[in-house]
Amino acid sequence: MEIEQKNQNNNNFEDIMELFEIDYIYENKPIKRTIYEPSLKDKQSLLENLKLKIQNISNCELKKNSKQIVFNDGDPQSPIMIVGEGPGQKEDEIGKPFVGDAGVLLNKMLEAINIKRSKVYITNVVNYRPPNNRKPQLSEINRYAVFLREHINIIDPKILILMGSTAMEALFGQTLKISEERGKWKEVIINQKTYKIILTFHPAYLLRQPDQKKYSWEDLKMIRKRINELKISF
Ligand code: URA
Repeated sequence: MEIEQKNQNNNNFEDIMELFEIDYIYENKPIKRTIYEPSLKDKQSLLENLKLKIQNISNCELKKNSKQIVFNDGDPQSPIMIVGEGPGQKEDEIGKPFVGDAGVLLNKMLEAINIKRSKVYITNVVNYRPPNNRKPQLSEINRYAVFLREHINIIDPKILILMGSTAMEALFGQTLKISEERGKWKEVIINQKTYKIILTFHPAYLLRQPDQKKYSWEDLKMIRKRINELKISF
C-alpha cells in the first residue's frame, strides 16, 4: 500500500530508490556509443590473421603454381583501397602487388591526381599468381572474394577503387560490364558496412588499349573530387 501510494504520488527517482533501499547511483544519461575504429596495431594483427588464412588454403591451383603469396602493399590506415586482379610474374617474384609494368602505370595514374602510392592501400582479388597470367576462373574469384570482403572490412576504406573486371566480379558478380559501369559511384554493403566504390579500367588493360586512357582519366578526376569533398589529406 505504501509503495503504491508513493509511486502514484510521484515518480521521483530518488524516492523510489529510497523506498526500495537501493543505494547505488544510476546515471540516467544517454549512453555514449563509440564507433569502433581499429588502431594500426589491431589492423596489423587482423591482416596477419587473414594472410595466414589465405596461406592455409588447400586444393588451390593458383597457390600450387606460384612462388609465394602476394598479399598487400601500402598504408593499412589509408582511406583509399585499391583492388586489382591478381599477381603477375614480377609480383610473384617480389611478393608485392603492382610492381610490374601495370604497377608503373598505376603509380603514374595516382601521381596524376596527386596521390603517392605509399599513401594508399593495395591488394588483389586473388593472392597467388594464376598460371601464365590467365584470368582467374569464376570459382577462384568466388573463393577469394570471401577473403577480399574480410580484407575490405579490416581496412575500412572511405573510397574503394576496383580496377578491372575481376575485381568488379568479385564484389558484383558477372552481371555487369566494366565498360558500362566504370566511372560511376556505387555502394556495396559488406558485413553491415557500406562502402563507396568506383570501378575503373585495369592499368594492364590500359597498356594494351591506350586509347581507353581518356576514360580512365575521367574516373581519376572523379576520385580526386571525392577525396576533396571528403577533405581527405595525404
Ligand atoms: N595486375 C594486378 O591485377 N595486380 C597486380 O598486382 C599486378 C598486376
